[in-house]
Amino acid sequence: MQKFVITGGKRLNGEIELQGCKNSALPIMAAAVLVNGKCILESCPNLTDVYSASRILNSIGCKCSIAGNTAEIDSVSVSGNAISEKLMGEMRSSIMFVGAILGRVGQCTFSIPGGCELGPRPIDMHLAAFAKLGAEISENGGEITCRMPKEKRHGGKISLPFPSVGATENIILCSVLAEGETVVNNAAREPEICDMCRFLRSCGAKIKGDGESRIVIEGVERLHGCEYRIMPDRIAGATYLAMTAAAGGAMILKNACICEMEPFLSVLEQSGCYICTADNRIYLRRGGRLRAVRDRIRTMPHPGFPTDAQAVLMAALAAADGTSVFEENIFDCRYRHTDALIKMGADIQVMGKAAVVRGVKKLHGADVEATDLRGGAAMAVAALGAEGRTTIGCISHIGRGYEKFEENITSLGGRISRE
Ligand code: UD1
Repeated sequence: MQKFVITGGKRLNGEIELQGCKNSALPIMAAAVLVNGKCILESCPNLTDVYSASRILNSIGCKCSIAGNTAEIDSVSVSGNAISEKLMGEMRSSIMFVGAILGRVGQCTFSIPGGCELGPRPIDMHLAAFAKLGAEISENGGEITCRMPKEKRHGGKISLPFPSVGATENIILCSVLAEGETVVNNAAREPEICDMCRFLRSCGAKIKGDGESRIVIEGVERLHGCEYRIMPDRIAGATYLAMTAAAGGAMILKNACICEMEPFLSVLEQSGCYICTADNRIYLRRGGRLRAVRDRIRTMPHPGFPTDAQAVLMAALAAADGTSVFEENIFDCRYRHTDALIKMGADIQVMGKAAVVRGVKKLHGADVEATDLRGGAAMAVAALGAEGRTTIGCISHIGRGYEKFEENITSLGGRISRE
C-alpha cells in the first residue's frame, strides 16, 4: 500500500489551477443517463470516483469514455436497469444513478451505496421521494428494486425533512422526464446541485429555483445532448488554501469559484490570512501566525460553512494562536481525523458535536493513516505546516477527491513524495 511522505515546515509559494468539481461531475454523469444523445463534459476531474461512475454507465449500456479531462457519454442505447453490488459499494454517489435510471428506464435494482464512513448515511429520504413520484419499492436480501412503470410516473410535491444534497439531486433526476410538475421544498442549495441543473437545462430540461430552497421541475419528453464544462471544485480549493494557511506563504488559486467559496474564505480571513479575489482567482497570503477563529465554526447546509472543509480548516487551526471551536452538524462521525492530528501534537478535545481545538506552537511529523477523503487531506494540510516528516497511509481515500495532489503541492514548493 502506497503512502505519502511529507516534509513540513517550508512556506508555500506559487499558483495552481483548480480542478473540476467531483461532487458535480458525479451527479452530472448520472444525469447523462437521461439524455437521448451524446454529452461531452469538459473539466471532468481524473478521480477514482469518476472512473467508478464511468463503470456504472458502461454497465447499463451507455458508452462512456474519458480522455484527459474530457468525458464523452452516449446514452442513446441505455438498456440496463440494475447496478451491481460491487459498483454500488465503490462510492456514495452510485445512489445518484438510481434516480437517473428510474427516470429514463422506469426500473432500477441496486444495493446500499458505499462511500466515506462519516457515520450512518441512510437513503430513506431518497426512497421516500421515489415513492412519492410513483415508485413501488421492494427489498430482497439487501437488494432493493424500484419500479416506476410509465403510466405510474408522475410529478409530485416533496418536502424534505432535511436539505439533503443527494436526495435533492435524485428527485430532480427522477422527475426531469416525468409527466407534470414536481416541487421540492426544503431543497438543498449546494452549488453542485445548481451545476447539475445547468447541465440538465443545457440538454432541454425545465428546472427553476435551484440554489433556493424551493425547486420546481416541469417534466419534458426527452433531453438532447450537449457540451458542458463542470464547475471548479470548491472543496479542493479550500484544501489548497488551508495548506498555505497552515504552512505560511502566498498562493494564487486559478479557475476558482469565488462566490461558492465565500463561506470558507470568510472564516480563513478571520484566522488572519490576507485574501484578495479578482475574476476567477483567489490570492491568499499568510505572513505571521494564524489566529484562532473567535466564532464557533458550525458546519451547515450551503450557504453555511461546508462540512467537507471542516477537517482541512481544523488541521490549519491546530497550530493557531488561541482556541477555536468546531460544531459538526451534518455527519455524526466526522472527527475521525482528530486522532491523527493529536498524534502530530495537536490539542483537540471532541465532545459530541463539538471539537475544541487549542492551538499549539507547532505540530510535528508522525506516521498516520487517512481515515476518509477529507480527513486524509487534512493530514496533508497539517503535515505541510508541521516540523519534520509525516507519512500518510491509506491514500486511496485522497485519490477519490484530488486530482494531481502531489503535483499541485510540489508546484507550491511543498515537499511530498509517494512511497
Ligand atoms: C453530499 C456530498 C458530501 C457532503 C454532503 C453534505 C456528494 C457526492 N457528496 O453527500 O461530500 O459532505 O453532501 O454537504 O455530493 N441523510 C439521511 N437520509 C437520507 C439522506 C441523507 O438521513 O436519505 C442525512 C445524512 O446521513 C447526513 C445528512 O442527511 O447526516 C446530509 O447528507 P446529504 O446532504 O444527503 O449528503 P450526501 O448527498 O450523501
